[in-house]
Amino acid sequence: MKISKVAGSLGESATLKLNATAAALRAQGEAVIHLGGGEPKSKAPVGALMSAAALLNTGEVRYTPASGMPALKEAIVAYTREYYHRDVEPRNVMASGGAKQAIMVGLQAVVDPGDEVMFPVPYWVSYPDMVRLCGATPVPVRPADGSFHPRLSDIEQKTTPTTKAVMINSPNNPSGAMYSEEFIKDIVRFCESRDLYLIMDDIYHRLVFDECRPISCYDHTSRHVDESKLIAINGVSKQYAMTGFRLGWAVASKELIRVMGIIQGHQTSGPSALSQQAAIGALSGPQDGVEGLRATLENNRNVLLERLRGIPNVKVTKPDGTFYCFVDFSYYEADSAKLARFLLEQARVVTIPGIAFGLDGHLRISFCGSIRDITEGTDRIKSALATYR
Ligand SMILES: Cc1ncc(COP(=O)(O)O)c(C=O)c1O
Repeated sequence: MKISKVAGSLGESATLKLNATAAALRAQGEAVIHLGGGEPKSKAPVGALMSAAALLNTGEVRYTPASGMPALKEAIVAYTREYYHRDVEPRNVMASGGAKQAIMVGLQAVVDPGDEVMFPVPYWVSYPDMVRLCGATPVPVRPADGSFHPRLSDIEQKTTPTTKAVMINSPNNPSGAMYSEEFIKDIVRFCESRDLYLIMDDIYHRLVFDECRPISCYDHTSRHVDESKLIAINGVSKQYAMTGFRLGWAVASKELIRVMGIIQGHQTSGPSALSQQAAIGALSGPQDGVEGLRATLENNRNVLLERLRGIPNVKVTKPDGTFYCFVDFSYYEADSAKLARFLLEQARVVTIPGIAFGLDGHLRISFCGSIRDITEGTDRIKSALATYR
């Protein structure tokens, strides 16, 4: 079968592939521990469920405007004021089928074939393929000092006349690193001085630990949102444990949002009305569930760190946020895919190979599951590694 060049250039998602293997093993009765997950285990906020149920009860679940319901846009405007300290208007907002679609449509709106899009390593698995889907070239930038924290000089060195955009995700999937305020300030100013788009993927911004506060890109620009090339991405998946609702959003200049709305209108139309209604409930209701989730994750992180530090010869960097720890296992095995396969086969523990995030020798270990999974999973990893080679 002949498929398109773009389709042929894409790789299968490493996470989805491992999930499928783990599900097949579980179906055979194997006690698989999943430390590869990408979603919190808590329930969606009651307000979200009630809000969606009320719409469902009317029996009238219709198309919405392609860029989202007015009431959801108002809720996102309020969210932007609360967490980004920025006054925007509904016309600066587009709701999408997850943050993933908001990023994809944002890229399609600004990137031409042949352009380059830069992002720091390690990066979220989907970034390179999203850029390729636009016919553009992904340019991963590895911090020169080997840390998980990019510096402006790293980005500057890789900037070329065809660079069109920079994508930043902080706190970061997979490292959990929260980029410094200084870096955020530098990158905002750099992109402004070079006329580059800056896509800020803030999907984990409220899931931060050790009394850190979310860092907002808008704090470091004096430009009005309509004069700015900043695209702020967020959504309900992680902070409200609403992954299955598929609801995210973008905030950007009115002109860009208008174009993004046209693209989305042709691709999928607006996100599901039920999910939009649920998101209104989540954003407008009590926020204590987010704090509860954040505190649980911080505790889980502390347990995981303690356990990992008990495994000889692994290098652990403390995550500042998210629910991922990106652990250096290169003492045992430089090929992360091989090591992840070994741990699944020998220890029945799912981890995600670092190569999927642009950095081999590492495994991403999630701490969004139960404490029991974390302790038993790390025990199994420790025992299996003791026999490795
Ligand atoms: C960094 C990052 N951005 C975006 C997303 C997509 O989120 P959503 O479920 O809203 O599409 C994820 C999900 O794993 C993520 O880790």
